[in-house]
Amino acid sequence: MGKSALVTGASRGIGLGIATRLAALGYSLTVTARDEARLDATAVALRAAGAPEVNAVAGELSDDRCLAQLTERHQDRFGAMSALVLNAGVGTAGPVAEFPMRRFDKTLDVNLRAPFMLLQQSLPLLRRGAAADPGRGAKVIALASITGVYAEHGLAVYGATKAALISLVQTLNAEESGNGVCATAISPAYVDTDMSAWKHGQIAPEQMLAVGDVVEMAEALLRLSARAVVPNIVMTRSGTDGLRA
Ligand SMILES: NC(=O)c1ccc[n+]([C@@H]2O[C@H](COP(=O)([O-])OP(=O)(O)OC[C@H]3O[C@@H](n4cnc5c(N)ncnc54)[C@H](OP(=O)(O)O)[C@@H]3O)[C@@H](O)[C@H]2O)c1
Repeated sequence: MGKSALVTGASRGIGLGIATRLAALGYSLTVTARDEARLDATAVALRAAGAPEVNAVAGELSDDRCLAQLTERHQDRFGAMSALVLNAGVGTAGPVAEFPMRRFDKTLDVNLRAPFMLLQQSLPLLRRGAAADPGRGAKVIALASITGVYAEHGLAVYGATKAALISLVQTLNAEESGNGVCATAISPAYVDTDMSAWKHGQIAPEQMLAVGDVVEMAEALLRLSARAVVPNIVMTRSGTDGLRA
């Protein structure tokens, strides 16, 4: 059985960077995002980058049927999972005083409910992946944010979902690291992707973290032995006090 990974939000930004590195490392992949045409083009590129097999499953992560289909398709094709990359997320800014509840619900659905469900559904596959490679185990990598660690003006709801994700990862380690399934939250400040483009008026793209910086952290986690648990990696931007996104 070869190595395999499931990556959400794999068609752009950080998810595409991590999926491309996984492909080069020889992982077979299940990848997902909403835009089917872009995802299909991504799958072709990932095969060219070295992934032996790529399963592209387009869908909306706030739809439970889409989540169930994702893990089913991964199980049918690969039978186990070496890594789960919970990357997709939405960023919505707005003050607590005025934040609309519809946006609150949507943000929680995509940033917290979907990762939790995917994690729950993937656990049997991850345990199988860990049993097949006991030295390395199986890895979960969740893209949180520095706003889940330090409060950021205007990002209360987004930050709350990311703080919850950091907490979820820690409890998962308490419950599952003994089975070889180890999880890490990566909590970066602004990374230069589509998601952070709205901030260019205040922070130039070259002052943001590069996607490649996050990819290096992800690969390092994949190389760790099953004996090591890293709960959270906070990545700050040079030139800042380290507490700001
Ligand atoms: N960029 C930053 O400054 C930054 C900083 C800290 C943490 N993060 C976190 O890092 C992760 C990746 O961010 P990014 O900057 O790479 O984002 P991005 O460039 O906006 O890419 C997001 C990816 O997720 C997919 N996606 C978005 N909403 C989805 C939905 N509802 N259902 C299914 N797929 C969806 C997108 O494809 P489709 O649009 O086709 O669905 C795309 O592939 C997120 O969790 C984000 O919160 C980002």
